[in-house]
Amino acid sequence: MQVLVVYGSKMGGTEGIAQILADELGARGATVTVADAATDPDPAGADAVVVGGGLYAGRWVKSVRRWVKQHDEALREVPVWCYSSGPLDDSATEHEIPEASSVHKLMARVGARGHLTFGGRLPADAQGFPAASMAKDHAGDWRDADQIRGWADDVADALGG
Ligand SMILES: Cc1cc2nc3c(=O)[nH]c(=O)nc-3n(C[C@H](O)[C@H](O)[C@H](O)COP(=O)(O)O)c2cc1C
Repeated sequence: MQVLVVYGSKMGGTEGIAQILADELGARGATVTVADAATDPDPAGADAVVVGGGLYAGRWVKSVRRWVKQHDEALREVPVWCYSSGPLDDSATEHEIPEASSVHKLMARVGARGHLTFGGRLPADAQGFPAASMAKDHAGDWRDADQIRGWADDVADALGG
């Protein structure tokens, strides 16, 4: 079972989630490739795809939005799961946060089977506007590795792995 994990990330938080997902899916027997959407990975040959984006003003980062749109035909042919990252508080571990409407549209376009929002991360030394000013009050890491691994297990279960 070949699984492609694609992420769109500006500051590395969503990339880190992709790595945890890949490790867990690999532990469950899948052969996993992790790729930055900005490198335009080819979905051909993948039996399943997991695609995630960091949320900025309610939308995934542009690289991954573009990747989903460019490869929508191929993605419709395989099971796809999506994730977002994420709130800079504990909300994502306290209750399930529905996908943003723009993410919902991308999911509908490729017939995605599921979605989870994970907590986000904002480095204290974030650069640029408005990230740097947000980091004065909201720097931290709310990604929960157990929650991420648990969701990877749900995906592996659905794939029969
Ligand atoms: C300018 C800016 C806008 C953001 N907008 C949202 C948002 O709309 N919803 C949300 O849940 N998180 C939002 N966040 C938090 C980011 O999604 C979080 O930091 C995420 O983990 C970043 O992912 P990355 O490190 O992969 O780029 C925002 C962060 C910044 C700096």
